[in-house]
Amino acid sequence: MSMAKLSALFLAAVAASLLCSWGIEGRTSVRSSGKSYQAISCRKHTASIKDFGGVGDGKTSNTKAFALAIANLSKVAADGGSQLVVPAGKWLTGSFNLTSYFTLYLEKDAVILASQDESEWPQVEILPSYGRGRDAPGGRYSSLIFGTNLTDVVITGNNGTIDGQGQPWWVKFRAGELNLTRPYLIEIMYSENLQISNLILLDSPSWFIHPIYSKNIIIQGLTIKAPVDSPNTDGVDPDSCSNVKIEDCYVVSGDDCIAIKSGWDQYGIKFGLPSEHIVVRRLTCVSPSSAAIALGSEMSGGIQDIRIEDNVAINTESAIRIKTGLGRGGFVKNIFARGFTMDTMKYVFWMTGSYGSHPDPFFDPKAIPIIEGINYHGFAAKNVTYSARLDGIEGDVFKGICISSVKISLKKKPKKLQWNCTDIEGITSRVIPTACDLLPEKELAGDCPYPTDLLPIEEIKLNSCPVPLIF
Ligand SMILES: *[C@@H]1O[C@H](CO)[C@@H](O)[C@H](O)[C@H]1NC(C)=O
Ligand SMILES: *[C@@H]1O[C@H](CO)[C@@H](O)[C@H](O)[C@H]1NC(C)=O
Ligand SMILES: *[C@@H]1O[C@H](CO)[C@@H](O)[C@H](O)[C@H]1NC(C)=O
Ligand SMILES: *[C@@H]1O[C@H](CO)[C@@H](O)[C@H](O)[C@H]1NC(C)=O
Ligand SMILES: *[C@@H]1O[C@H](CO)[C@@H](O)[C@H](O)[C@H]1NC(C)=O
Ligand SMILES: *[C@@H]1O[C@H](CO)[C@@H](O)[C@H](O)[C@H]1NC(C)=O
Ligand SMILES: *[C@@H]1O[C@H](CO)[C@@H](O)[C@H](O)[C@H]1NC(C)=O
Repeated sequence: MSMAKLSALFLAAVAASLLCSWGIEGRTSVRSSGKSYQAISCRKHTASIKDFGGVGDGKTSNTKAFALAIANLSKVAADGGSQLVVPAGKWLTGSFNLTSYFTLYLEKDAVILASQDESEWPQVEILPSYGRGRDAPGGRYSSLIFGTNLTDVVITGNNGTIDGQGQPWWVKFRAGELNLTRPYLIEIMYSENLQISNLILLDSPSWFIHPIYSKNIIIQGLTIKAPVDSPNTDGVDPDSCSNVKIEDCYVVSGDDCIAIKSGWDQYGIKFGLPSEHIVVRRLTCVSPSSAAIALGSEMSGGIQDIRIEDNVAINTESAIRIKTGLGRGGFVKNIFARGFTMDTMKYVFWMTGSYGSHPDPFFDPKAIPIIEGINYHGFAAKNVTYSARLDGIEGDVFKGICISSVKISLKKKPKKLQWNCTDIEGITSRVIPTACDLLPEKELAGDCPYPTDLLPIEEIKLNSCPVPLIF
């Protein structure tokens, strides 16, 4: 091919790419940077928050700009969908709502700052599986980024930041000055095909990510940080969700790094939607007063088929903690974990059958939770205070526990009772230090079971989407 032909082709290609990726609003010029990012869907239309009057000075409220942008972009949902780019800068905003076939893309030095003005946070309905707000009997504030009844939503970027600026909320919560439940950072309800990835999330007023009544969810490559003494700053809480993959996240938090839930007492029992088919892998957790991975305490719709592998906990209260109690009903069953490395832990294994915390006095004390089929292997821990505290419920034994290939080194001056077990039943194999009498040593050919099939969410291949460049 001649040089002239080649350059004509090249110019045509450049022109075509400029035309195709022009912002739908048209004021900012948008084209591809030649780089790519990984997402469940790429989008045909791109716009910048600046197109909608956004100002990234850290002082101007962008609540209106986000609402306008997303209302505008929602119009092209059926025409290849859209992405809203948040460029470098500090973008102060109150709550805003997402739309379907939509990507929120945060550039490297983009920071979305949550407003500390309560009037910027609308009230939303209580969750039916909770029957009230989680913090307070009244209603609840909308999360910073909220979505309901959506499909195909991506929140991602090149390690951009969403900063919940939670400090004033924590202070008011501790002082009992809030009548409504604090906002979460991101909450998505009744939705499917979701991705949250490659972001830094800071200082949520309460839980960071709360997908509820949703399915087909990928959460990946997040750095989540809150002070280790901040109240209820759970990292990722899939709640009545199925087919979820959480991988390669680093969480430092004042509460559980991951908490899998499914509704609260009589409200969760009635709603009856389990959390199931969930994998958590390559998590690094620091949480001195909570668990790396909690199952519960709200588990009244049931929790099953949970796969937990290759995780790390440092200076964390426990690795995996099952939390339940009379009145919860529901179940926690078919839980599988392999590969957990730990340093400086109060407990390695923890199950609590006497977790209090009820939504109101009308829970049914006869609603007993079923805990069955808990399989852990390949755990190594050092500087541990107690190997295990396993409290089942009198008359409701936690059954089918299998723990194998575990090596725990204790801290200096170790506690005498290393395995404190009541109302549980199961076996152990190759576990150091030797477990309690309720978990007798049994010769196992291999290790405790772990599923060999993949979850459907693990079979999803991400697309390489062009990184938009905003001028
Ligand atoms: C919204 O998008 C349309 C194109 O679909 C455009 O014509 C319009 O100006 C946009 N509105 C705003 C407020 O930017
Ligand atoms: C988002 O949607 C919910 C539910 O439809 C609504 O209650 C809330 O006010 C909306 N938030 C904003 C900021 O518009
Ligand atoms: C969202 O979906 C739920 C469950 O299907 C339904 O009850 C609710 O009415 C829907 N809400 C909206 C705003 O469409
Ligand atoms: C984003 O941050 C993570 C964690 O610090 C890091 O491993 C990764 O390389 C970063 N990615 C980019 C594109 O900078
Ligand atoms: C909370 O409720 C109490 C009692 O109903 C009331 O006195 C107080 O003013 C309310 N606080 C706020 C911040 O609304
Ligand atoms: C061991 O754990 C204790 C807390 O139980 C902690 O204070 C100490 O620093 C840890 N030691 C090492 C060597 O990590
Ligand atoms: C063992 O667990 C029981 C609860 O089942 C608790 O009351 C007791 O204090 C624990 N013992 C030790 C030494 O930690």
